[in-house]
Amino acid sequence: MGFISLFIILGTLIASVIAQQQCVPYTSNYTFTTGFPPIWVKPGAETFTTAEFQQVNKSINWSMVPNIPPNKLVNGALDLSTYSTSDPNCWWSYKNCVTPKAPGLKPDISRCPEPGTWGLTYDDGPNCTHNEFYDFLKGQNQTATMYFIGSNVADWPYEAQRAITDKHQVCVHTWSHPYMTTLTNDEVLAELFYTRKAIKYVCKVTPLCWRPPFGDVDDRVRAIAQQLNMTTDIWNLDSNDFRMIPAGTFTSAQVDTIFEGFVEMGKNGTFATSGAITLQHELNNGTMSKAQQWYPQIKAAYKHLMPVASCMNITHPYAETNITYPSFNDLVGGSSTSGNNPSGGSGSNSSKKSSSVSMTSCISLISTVSIMLIAQLSSTLF
Ligand SMILES: *[C@@H]1O[C@H](CO)[C@@H](O)[C@H](O)[C@H]1NC(C)=O
Ligand SMILES: *[C@@H]1O[C@H](CO)[C@@H](O)[C@H](O)[C@H]1NC(C)=O
Ligand SMILES: *[C@@H]1O[C@H](CO)[C@@H](O)[C@H](O)[C@H]1NC(C)=O
Ligand SMILES: *[C@@H]1O[C@H](CO)[C@@H](O)[C@H](O)[C@H]1NC(C)=O
Ligand SMILES: *[C@@H]1O[C@H](CO)[C@@H](O)[C@H](O)[C@H]1NC(C)=O
Ligand SMILES: *[C@@H]1O[C@H](CO)[C@@H](O)[C@H](O)[C@H]1NC(C)=O
Ligand SMILES: *[C@@H]1O[C@H](CO)[C@@H](O)[C@H](O)[C@H]1NC(C)=O
Ligand SMILES: *[C@@H]1O[C@H](CO)[C@@H](O)[C@H](O)[C@H]1NC(C)=O
Ligand SMILES: *[C@@H]1O[C@H](CO)[C@@H](O)[C@H](O)[C@H]1NC(C)=O
Ligand SMILES: *[C@@H]1O[C@H](CO)[C@@H](O)[C@H](O)[C@H]1NC(C)=O
Ligand SMILES: *[C@@H]1O[C@H](CO)[C@@H](O)[C@H](O)[C@H]1NC(C)=O
Ligand SMILES: [Zn+2]
Repeated sequence: MGFISLFIILGTLIASVIAQQQCVPYTSNYTFTTGFPPIWVKPGAETFTTAEFQQVNKSINWSMVPNIPPNKLVNGALDLSTYSTSDPNCWWSYKNCVTPKAPGLKPDISRCPEPGTWGLTYDDGPNCTHNEFYDFLKGQNQTATMYFIGSNVADWPYEAQRAITDKHQVCVHTWSHPYMTTLTNDEVLAELFYTRKAIKYVCKVTPLCWRPPFGDVDDRVRAIAQQLNMTTDIWNLDSNDFRMIPAGTFTSAQVDTIFEGFVEMGKNGTFATSGAITLQHELNNGTMSKAQQWYPQIKAAYKHLMPVASCMNITHPYAETNITYPSFNDLVGGSSTSGNNPSGGSGSNSSKKSSSVSMTSCISLISTVSIMLIAQLSSTLF
């Protein structure tokens, strides 16, 4: 008991230190200097020759990957000007196509099917700034789908672990955040493979889902992802939060107008027959503050808010089949152990169970935080 209270005191102390210093780079005990591409660098030839990459390359049936030439960037933007108006490659960036045209490809997941259901997703994490935001979600008993950038997992591994501790669903969002349709096959495979490897290394799970940066996907890229057993996850509501100053040019008020529209849609029948998946970002203080600001109104306007896996009844979102995730009914029926939004639920009667669960996760959080302090201290000392 004394040990536990020492832990709690230490944890509180550290938590307050970290709250003040969110975003101080730290040294972790995870090594990314070998076996991974350099952080924030598009995987190059040296990452293609490794035995593990050769092995995964061999496991791909390349005759199922359409022979579509990589797209081009002009001044940093996709060149759509020479593309056929018949959209032969189901190129999302052209006209938001989510139903592939090449044979054997599964449709993208772009909305939660159940009426009034909002698939809650955040891209571009993890980052040290997210601690306060994750505290908020935890306080709301809310889980979401997190699309993690491999390079950010390498920089902020303890934040990545927290997503799993908090029962969020973790998916791949590439290693270096490129326009995927502009890459070669080798590069596409490496962006996905090394991010998946980083998540497995740090979080001990192998995601079966990914989201293309900027939504930039076509049938060639889909075919590679599908053979890595990953669903391609898009969205049907874009908050445009990432366009907000300072990352972009939108004012805070412009983003508020977009969220007001979403609240209106929740109430006016737009989602009476099927649901939504939103695009929001765990990018900076601005996007995370907007998420917190609008959460109560979104929650009031929609019947259910939940991770994508749950709204799709994907109860095994990782290759590790012994890990299960709550289904739609698990969450709305109130019989969940996932700690999610119970709105619409009835008969939930597990207060004893849930308090012991939260105690356990509290202790494990505190120990994660303690490891972080040790890491921070040692990086200060050396
Ligand atoms: C992550 O945090 C660092 C500060 O430590 C910041 O410079 C960087 O922009 C953040 N990354 C993203 C994607 O927000
Ligand atoms: C880092 O430390 C944690 C906590 O002791 C441990 O669970 C994890 O396996 C370690 N990771 C590596 C790569 O050594
Ligand atoms: C992956 O396999 C394809 C098909 O066999 C081959 O063309 C390509 O060169 C391989 N990539 C690497 C990096 O070896
Ligand atoms: C690869 O895919 C092609 C086209 O779908 C199929 O005909 C072939 O049998 C597959 N090869 C293997 C080894 O599975
Ligand atoms: C995809 O899943 C199948 C079936 O579980 C497995 O045999 C295969 O190795 C997986 N492929 C990859 C690239 O992980
Ligand atoms: C619902 O509200 C949205 C956002 O204001 C609007 O675009 C849409 O036309 C409305 N739909 C209906 C059926 O009123
Ligand atoms: C984060 O954003 C909120 C809302 O815009 C603002 O009140 C707060 O001062 C910002 N915090 C930091 C550290 O910039
Ligand atoms: C999820 O399962 C529930 C209960 O069986 C069902 O009503 C719902 O349609 C399912 N949704 C999907 C996307 O499979
Ligand atoms: C799942 O199995 C792996 C490997 O057998 C094991 O390390 C892990 O602890 C198991 N996880 C759960 C949640 O049972
Ligand atoms: C969190 O949500 C789950 C169901 O999704 C519910 O069983 C649990 O009681 C909730 N916990 C709190 C503290 O509201
Ligand atoms: C919940 O548990 C309490 C105490 O065990 C019991 O009195 C109550 O009837 C239960 N409620 C439901 C809905 O099962
Ligand atoms: Zn992104």
